[in-house]
Parts: sequence; structure tokens; C-alpha cells
Amino acid sequence: MAASETRVPIASSEDIVTARQKGRSLAMELGFDGVDVTLITAAISEVSRNIIVHAKGGEIVLRPVHEGNKRGLCVVARDRGPGIPNVAQAMEYGYSTANGLGVGLPGAKWLMDDFDIQSKVGVGTTVTMKKWFNRHAK
Ligand SMILES: Nc1ncnc2c1ncn2[C@@H]1O[C@H](COP(=O)(O)OP(=O)(O)O)[C@@H](O)[C@H]1O
Ligand SMILES: [Mg+2]
Repeated sequence: MAASETRVPIASSEDIVTARQKGRSLAMELGFDGVDVTLITAAISEVSRNIIVHAKGGEIVLRPVHEGNKRGLCVVARDRGPGIPNVAQAMEYGYSTANGLGVGLPGAKWLMDDFDIQSKVGVGTTVTMKKWFNRHAK
């Protein structure tokens, strides 16, 4: 059966475990190697945790992605929380407004291949991250 989109509502820390498990399953189904599966699940943890800590609730969407001859896995973390006033600052290593380590966003960017964050104060935050499979094949 072809892999399809999975949505995981994020409202409590148990949901982070579910999001990780669904991400792991999809990554394995798509044929990612063990290292990439670990990187993808670590990135899912960080953005899911941010939804809990900074926005109270939201969702993770996991889906296969094709762009040209690239194939991969896309993770979208979406919330209608407070939003981020200064995204560049939030992306700095060590910056946290919650006495956290401040490494979640820069860490997730580093773990994945593509990373985009859109945020608007009073509206919410959407992080879109992709990991490409078979990056060396052209
Ligand atoms: N989903 C979100 N909604 C609102 N603010 C967020 C969200 N994710 C991250 N932030 C902001 O970006 C900062 C940096 O995030 P991160 O690097 O994960 O560090 P930490 O979670 O340890 O504070 C957070 O402290 C917070 O101010
Ligand atoms: Mg964080």
C-alpha cells in the first residue's frame, strides 16, 4: 500500500511519542536508512515539544514528498499559538523564552535537509521540514 499523509494532534507529551512513532514508520516505509530515521524522529520531537511548551496544542502532519526527481519525507508542525515575534532570534542557538536550552529550532534545522518557519504573532506558527531520500542520486 502506498504511504499517505498522517496527522497527529499534539496536546500532551504522550502525543510526542505518537508523532515520533508515526514518523519512524513512514520513514522506514519510504526506505530511509537507520541514521536518517533517527534524525527525522529527533526533529519531530523538537517541533512537537515546541507545540506543547510554547503553543499548548497543534498538530504534526507527516507525508511523502516528491519535488522533481527528489523524493523524501515532509514534516509539518502547525499551531495556532502565540506566534514568534522575531523568528531570526528564535532560530539562534541557545535562545529560549521558556528557560529551555534554546536548541530545538536550530537543532531541527540541522537534522533535516530543508527547513522553513512561518510565524505570525497572534495567529500561530508553521514549521515545514523535509528530508530527502537518495540525495546523491541525480
Ligand atoms: N511553536 C511555537 N510557538 C511559539 N513560539 C515558539 C514556538 N516554537 C519555538 N518558539 C519560540 O522560539 C524559541 C526557541 O525555540 P527552541 O529553539 O525550540 O528552544 P526552547 O524550546 O528550548 O525554548 C522558544 O523559546 C520560543 O520563544
Ligand atoms: Mg524547543
